[in-house]
Amino acid sequence: MTKTLLVTGGCGFIGANFVRYLLNREADVRIVNLDKLTYAGNLSNLADVAADSRYRFVHGDICDAGLVGGLFAEEKPEAVVHFAAESHVDRSISGPSAFVQTNVVGTFTLLEAARNAWLDGSAEASLRRFVHVSTDEVYGSLGATGYFTEETPYDPRSPYSASKAASDHLVSAYFHTYGLPTVITNCSNNYGPLQFPEKLIPLIVNNALHGRELPVYGDGKNVRDWLYVEDHCAALWTVLNQGVPGETYNIGGNNEKQNIEIVTAICTLLDEMASPLPGGKARTSLIRFVKDRPGHDRRYAIDAEKIRRELGWEPGTTFEEGLRRTISWYLANGPWLQGVLDGSYQSYYQTMYGGR
Ligand code: NAD
Ligand code: TYD
Repeated sequence: MTKTLLVTGGCGFIGANFVRYLLNREADVRIVNLDKLTYAGNLSNLADVAADSRYRFVHGDICDAGLVGGLFAEEKPEAVVHFAAESHVDRSISGPSAFVQTNVVGTFTLLEAARNAWLDGSAEASLRRFVHVSTDEVYGSLGATGYFTEETPYDPRSPYSASKAASDHLVSAYFHTYGLPTVITNCSNNYGPLQFPEKLIPLIVNNALHGRELPVYGDGKNVRDWLYVEDHCAALWTVLNQGVPGETYNIGGNNEKQNIEIVTAICTLLDEMASPLPGGKARTSLIRFVKDRPGHDRRYAIDAEKIRRELGWEPGTTFEEGLRRTISWYLANGPWLQGVLDGSYQSYYQTMYGGR
């Protein structure tokens, strides 16, 4: 029987990869995608599936209780996969309000609609899972050793991670209080096709491709655990099907890298894969160490043993392979990149990096 999934934020980076991943692999899945189309949401991310009869796009805000409630009543989704969020730490520092609105109030609004559907009690009531897609940043910052497990106490440091932590707590409360069958995933940094060029990897690819300076915050030794986005999609599909209600699953790449290592690796690959810079200059010469991010978390590292042991998921893509595939995608999709580098991106870049 066909399952209807309500996906929120399906026009963003991970959401769009997830929608494509499912429509390409699962014949009996129907997806309703609710997305506000903020600067980070892009209809062209799903242009190739837009005409698929198993796909429906709804333009709207997860904070709109009437719209969200109406969608549950009309579509009777069997599952919700909740991606919609404001997702960029630097933007949360310069303007936290939208983060509280979408990540906290929006998640609450969605939970209320799900609760009504769950408690409906009618034979038609269909909701089986509510998967809340969250981040490892809720756990705070690690020193040189140790890992985040599902038992690590929450200690968010940025407005972004604080708003995601708040949303995680609400989701958890709806499980304990109302029995809503929620599952929370806390994932490490993703990279891959369709990522907006405000995040480290696509920003550096874009700048290095065009011979522009490569801003590295602080000493460049902050560590992130990088996961190829398609591996995250596979993990979410596994959690949706096998995850136990009320549980949390950490998802990570077991792939820690310092930022400077990432930037250097991108430069080396682009020197090999793209047109040379004028005078044959190595792209590493574009690296600039700039003023650090306030409250910059030093290190994130995920212990993903629980999802491996209990659900059998493991990352399948090595960093070398994933980075090469990512760069190839950006090289092959110049019009996509040009399309998102519009006026608002230019003013964002100027505000964030001008004179930094
Ligand atoms: P993104 O910023 O690329 O996309 C966010 C999407 O949500 C966009 O399509 C946007 O239009 C939509 N959206 C924003 N506000 C909305 C609203 N009020 N109503 C409806 N739609 C709205 O984000 P992403 O990187 O794809 O992240 C997706 C989710 O995964 C987020 O919840 C994020 O916290 C989480 N996450 C991201 C990463 C990462 O490395 N990117 C890692 C772990 C967890
Ligand atoms: P980012 O992609 O913003 O993800 P997050 O902050 O959610 O981990 O940043 C990844 C790392 O790269 C983080 O340590 C900040 C650093 N960074 C830079 O050094 N320069 C940049 O221009 C950006 C966007 C990030």
